[in-house]
Amino acid sequence: MARSLFFGGKGGVGKTSCATAYALNCAAAGQKTLLVSTDPAHNLADLFGRAPGATPTRMRPDLDVVELDPDRETQRYLDQVKDTIRPLVSGERSTTVFRQLELARHAPGTEEAALFDALVGLLLETGRDYDRLIFDTAPGGHTVRLLALPEIMGAWVDGLMQRRRKVRSDYKAWLGDGEVVDDPIQEALMRRRGRLAAAREHLTCAAYSAVVLVANPERLPTLETARTRELLESHGLHVGALVINKCLPEDVDSTWLINWRDEQRPWREQLAATFADRPVREIGHQPHAPASSDDLQPLSDALQGLTPWQDHD
Ligand SMILES: Nc1ncnc2c1ncn2[C@@H]1O[C@H](COP(=O)(O)OP(=O)(O)O)[C@@H](O)[C@H]1O
Ligand SMILES: [Mg+2]
Repeated sequence: MARSLFFGGKGGVGKTSCATAYALNCAAAGQKTLLVSTDPAHNLADLFGRAPGATPTRMRPDLDVVELDPDRETQRYLDQVKDTIRPLVSGERSTTVFRQLELARHAPGTEEAALFDALVGLLLETGRDYDRLIFDTAPGGHTVRLLALPEIMGAWVDGLMQRRRKVRSDYKAWLGDGEVVDDPIQEALMRRRGRLAAAREHLTCAAYSAVVLVANPERLPTLETARTRELLESHGLHVGALVINKCLPEDVDSTWLINWRDEQRPWREQLAATFADRPVREIGHQPHAPASSDDLQPLSDALQGLTPWQDHD
């Protein structure tokens, strides 16, 4: 089973850059690595010189990249739901049911559920072919919501299953013959419950799954980072390391830059204090925004040897 790592943090702090730099390190060390982007605003295509596809694309030796496009994943998810439902509803009712499903496309939570479904597939199936799964997640709260989903969706599926069982036992009582017919909905729910439980087990096992939070030494990212760590931990996830990105170098010369560097200092200290019990890596602000994987070398160097998972025997 692959060890998975999620790079989380506010938009623009450097998640995509750090996740890519880290994935390049893993691949260079001979670990078969899959870099997964769930961020619609990513710039992986620029970094690798060509766009990743919907299935893993080989970009470097030992490094594949895959992009989860929210719209495409939502479509795939709804198609799958339709296929499950099709044999169960007929005639006029099916038109209504399928129209409801089309409306569900834009309902809150559908896109997340679809992305999560794809993530579960990556963790449980695709991940078997890799040593490392590196996730470049969508900004901020999304990471928490996405990773907490197995817990929430598990409870939801449990509720559905309970209601289904009640309906079936009522039927049994009405029919009075004691025979229980096969229930395809119950079976589909059970399968889903099993996958969610397996995903949740993987995500909450600190030896196999960890989150690296990326922050910049500024007020808001600092405050949010502490909150995000607490929230992730309250859902049983292992927050394994902190990256403080875009730190200005000591030897800046203009007054303007000296002021900026000095303003960063208390936030660097506060961030490091919040992660006193974890590895913390600082990455310097580069003179140019990294535009290619070569430009990421300083970031890769800063992340060298970082292991955010808990030791396992
Ligand atoms: N250490 C750094 N120095 C300078 N620019 C950086 C650094 N890290 C990231 N950037 C730039 O900052 C912007 C946001 O980075 P990105 O990795 O896309 O963040 P996120 O994925 O968190 O939104 C990009 O233009 C990126 O090239
Ligand atoms: Mg990004």
